[in-house]
Amino acid sequence: MSKVSDNTLQTLPRHVAVVMDGNGRWANKRHLPRAAGHKAGVNATRKIVENCAKNRIAALTIFAFSSENWNRPKSEVSSLMSLFVSTLTGEVKKLHKKNVRVRFIGERLRFSEKLQKSIAECEALTEDNTGLKLNIAANYGGRWDIVNACRSLISSMQDSATDTDAASLDVQSIDEQLFGSFLSLSDTPEPDLLIRTGGEQRISNFLIWQLAYAELYFVDTLWPDFSDQDFSDALDWFAGRQRRFGKTGQQIQQEQATAAIE
Ligand code: FPP
Repeated sequence: MSKVSDNTLQTLPRHVAVVMDGNGRWANKRHLPRAAGHKAGVNATRKIVENCAKNRIAALTIFAFSSENWNRPKSEVSSLMSLFVSTLTGEVKKLHKKNVRVRFIGERLRFSEKLQKSIAECEALTEDNTGLKLNIAANYGGRWDIVNACRSLISSMQDSATDTDAASLDVQSIDEQLFGSFLSLSDTPEPDLLIRTGGEQRISNFLIWQLAYAELYFVDTLWPDFSDQDFSDALDWFAGRQRRFGKTGQQIQQEQATAAIE
């Protein structure tokens, strides 16, 4: 990866989320089928995974297939599914060697048995790894995540009402922390930085709860062209952001000055 400045190294995000957009346009520009753009996108994905692992970024979450992507032409969906199987099969051992822990988020039951098997094998092989946490959002939607969390929370409340050993859960005990614990990625710090390539400035139903305080970085580069330098630029931009979490800029400066003295 091209060199990141010392300032950037001190303020790396713990968790980066990426909407990998622009594969189709990359292919169109070259008069290639859209599937060729997705295939080229895999190379950019491999590079960002390696960069995050090298820079000791704790987590990377990538949007590989949204709940809405089923609406694409059948041939494109089918080529994406084959690409997922071949990429997982081809990459899993290398990811394991790099100590990457891979997990999938989203509704996996709609995938073919073959893809579900590849997903399960990839998760099982890497589950004890302690390096980068790579989360792959597949058949994922932020609204699905929230509805799914509601279902799980209500079902836990019902269990706790009948099971005297279970921790008591009632309506009054529901707060943001408890609700968040039923969402995908609840064991991972929320994303600090969202990168979206391809020029659109939207969240597109990605981690809509978890991105509440993320810095949003939009870049025109199409995903297959997203280079090491582009990632360094995103990290440099992030390092220059002042994250306020609802406080004033003055409060943050005072907190930083106090921390520097201590
Ligand atoms: C969006 O570009 C991209 C996708 C829907 C697929 C992304 C998938 C990969 C890069 C493969 C990663 C593989 C694994 C196993 C994680 P688009 O098609 O919407 O582009 P467009 O906006 O130019 O049409």
